[in-house]
Amino acid sequence: MKLVVANESHFKYAHIISDTIGESAKVRGTGIAKRTPEYIQKKLQNGNAVIALDGETFAGFCYIEVWGHEKFVANSGLIVHPDYRGQGLAKKIKQRIFDLSRTKFPDAKIFGITTGLAVMKINYELGYKPVTFSELTDDPEFWKGCQTCKNFDILTRTEQKMCLCTGMLHDPNAQPAVKKDNVNSKAFTRLKSIKEQLLLKKKTK
Ligand SMILES: CC(C)(COP(=O)(O)OP(=O)(O)OC[C@H]1O[C@@H](n2cnc3c(N)ncnc32)[C@H](O)[C@@H]1OP(=O)(O)O)[C@@H](O)C(=O)NCCC(=O)NCCS
Repeated sequence: MKLVVANESHFKYAHIISDTIGESAKVRGTGIAKRTPEYIQKKLQNGNAVIALDGETFAGFCYIEVWGHEKFVANSGLIVHPDYRGQGLAKKIKQRIFDLSRTKFPDAKIFGITTGLAVMKINYELGYKPVTFSELTDDPEFWKGCQTCKNFDILTRTEQKMCLCTGMLHDPNAQPAVKKDNVNSKAFTRLKSIKEQLLLKKKTK
């Protein structure tokens, strides 16, 4: 398995990346924005994406997006092909894209939003902290990316204050945590369930 910074030679993988994201969104039923092959191609060409390949076979992907005049970067679109899940690949991809983000944008705060426990765990290990949406970028273009998520109406209804996703932030200027705890999976799952009960219930009224 090799993890490389993507370039134009990887355009041929844009369709499978887009399809794998789309299929995963259907299976999971919540909280993954769609990305077209054209959109993925743009991400592949500017040196801000990491692709994992098993020989010539696509295994995983993630990209950096820059917001608020480089004050913030997001590590978005993380996807591991179902054939390669459960082997620590997402962790390796996230570490690689995190390192790339720190090298290319050393002063930027790195953030992500997620409903997934796996991503929450990985981010936590990388030193991210859970934060309210008000601490993330207010760049409207970032939030427009949520329009293709099936929960977008919740974000609109709450005036962008909350949604089913949890915001997580790595601030390069913050004091490092003294002790690196693991994410509390039980608490996270419980919180997610409470949010779903509150926010999804209102949706059906
Ligand atoms: C989420 C995803 C990227 C995980 O990829 P993966 O390569 O299987 O993840 P890893 O093997 O690196 O696992 C990382 C950690 O998450 C845990 N994990 C993996 N999948 C999990 C799941 N479905 N539920 C809970 N925990 C999970 C692992 O046990 C591991 O934790 P540990 O360090 O405590 O052992 C992959 O399942 C995927 O592509 N899903 C669909 C797309 C998606 O949800 N993207 C994220 C959008 S925010």
